[in-house]
Amino acid sequence: MKFLIEKICCIGAGYVGGPTMAVIAHKCPDIEVNVVDINPLRIQEWNSPDFDNLPVFEPGLSDILKKCRNRNLFFSIDIEKHISEADMIFISVNTPTKTRGIGAGQASDLKWIEASARQIAKYAKGKTIVVEKSTLPVKTAEVIKSILQTLSSSNKYNKQNSKKFYILSNPEFLAEGTAISDLTNPDRVLIGGDDEEAISCLKKLYLNWVNEEKIITSDLWSSELSKLIANAFLAQRVSSINSISALCESTQANINDVSKAIGMDSRIGEYFLRAGPGFGGSCFKKDILNLIYICNNYGLDEVSSYWEKVLTINDWQKNRIIKIISEKLFGTISGKKIAILGFAFKANTNDTRESPAIQICKGLLDEGSFLSIYDPKVHINQIKNDLATFPYIENSSSNHSASWESAESIEDAVQNSDAMLILSDWEEFYNINYKILINKMRGPSWIFDTRNIINLDEAKKSGFNVWALGKGNLI
Ligand code: UDX
Ligand code: ADP
Repeated sequence: MKFLIEKICCIGAGYVGGPTMAVIAHKCPDIEVNVVDINPLRIQEWNSPDFDNLPVFEPGLSDILKKCRNRNLFFSIDIEKHISEADMIFISVNTPTKTRGIGAGQASDLKWIEASARQIAKYAKGKTIVVEKSTLPVKTAEVIKSILQTLSSSNKYNKQNSKKFYILSNPEFLAEGTAISDLTNPDRVLIGGDDEEAISCLKKLYLNWVNEEKIITSDLWSSELSKLIANAFLAQRVSSINSISALCESTQANINDVSKAIGMDSRIGEYFLRAGPGFGGSCFKKDILNLIYICNNYGLDEVSSYWEKVLTINDWQKNRIIKIISEKLFGTISGKKIAILGFAFKANTNDTRESPAIQICKGLLDEGSFLSIYDPKVHINQIKNDLATFPYIENSSSNHSASWESAESIEDAVQNSDAMLILSDWEEFYNINYKILINKMRGPSWIFDTRNIINLDEAKKSGFNVWALGKGNLI
């Protein structure tokens, strides 16, 4: 039996669904791609004529949208229509960590996945390939499969007995900020499943732009597990280098030199060895928590406590940065103004999920400081959400203890501040004009660089006291 793919529906118009479907539509002009979401505001934003204000900021994305939107790429809230017309359905909904019930704090909440599966069971017609795309916990495909099988075998949803579903796992390895290049030139495409025809159908889609040797296949479970483990290994590398950043500070070594030296060993490799304020993003923590949960379930306590340490170091790194800042500013930051440069979890994204900036800012606010927060892309409402319990002050001319303001630029943020704290590695923070900024700040003026991006010599020459992660005391 052959599949013919003319229409694709993607459930979930988020950081994964939006860019992924944009690239598929771009590379497969003969296929109609419909991205649906339950959130009408999100869909409205994707359809906005203002390409600079899409719900997801991703370099290169707006150029693709300009070419494909309303040609063969559509964003819609009509979930029923697009599911019912689709030959292939991607599930790209969110799977956050459960906050209560069994597995709370570790297992992912599958309620959005289940809702999607129920919608598919209800509205799909004929033979449909269902592709699990979300960043998700292991064995989700089994959940989707069993919902679809159970519901489609009941007469209520399958009166003519015409519905048949083929489940595939096709994990997304894109990183935010580089999503478009990751999608157009992936290291590999992984397809897991047990139906050869369905697998080759999805493979054919990717062959429009990906070399065959980069497309690998496996069973469902191995595919899902690979995604989890890829993220766990990447997070582990960040925690490893971050742990060594502390050792470098204590022993006066330079973390950049250490990273470079070890990274040139081809067995270790140069990537993911940049020390920083801790990893953020929607995947790393969630996936490690899932891994811990699964290992505990199988009685693999040593394995789970090994991976727990990756999270422990990540939290510790953020907390020690808060302490260092307080210590350097004469042991108290109450009432002091600190300019926060970067709130996103890394450069080139407007995403703040699990951003180290959240925990660090909260820690500084708890100590009573006044924060002036500047990020080139994060919307102020997002910061309000993330720092919910701390008061936001508008148009302030003086410091307010344990509260924060939003700044329009670096210059605006540092005005009358005691310190600037660099948390995300945005390009514009690499080229700070130290001479101009120091004149706007209170003395002694500090720079705390958690990303190792500033020009130390110039900063010091301009009169700044500098603390740079992994480089010890550099005053
Ligand atoms: C990650 C995976 O890279 C991607 O394959 C998966 O699909 C989703 O999760 P993402 O969360 O977008 O992607 O960002 P990534 O670039 O991996 O960075 C994650 C965090 O680690 C960021 O906070 C980043 O600043 C930090 N990081 C990364 C470092 O601190 N040092 C590094 O060397 C690399
Ligand atoms: P990710 O980073 O995995 O893409 P996001 O939170 O950015 O996660 O996006 C997930 C999207 O899925 C959200 O826009 C949310 O509204 C949408 N969504 C969740 N459940 C459903 C559903 N049952 N039907 C349609 N859309 C859904």
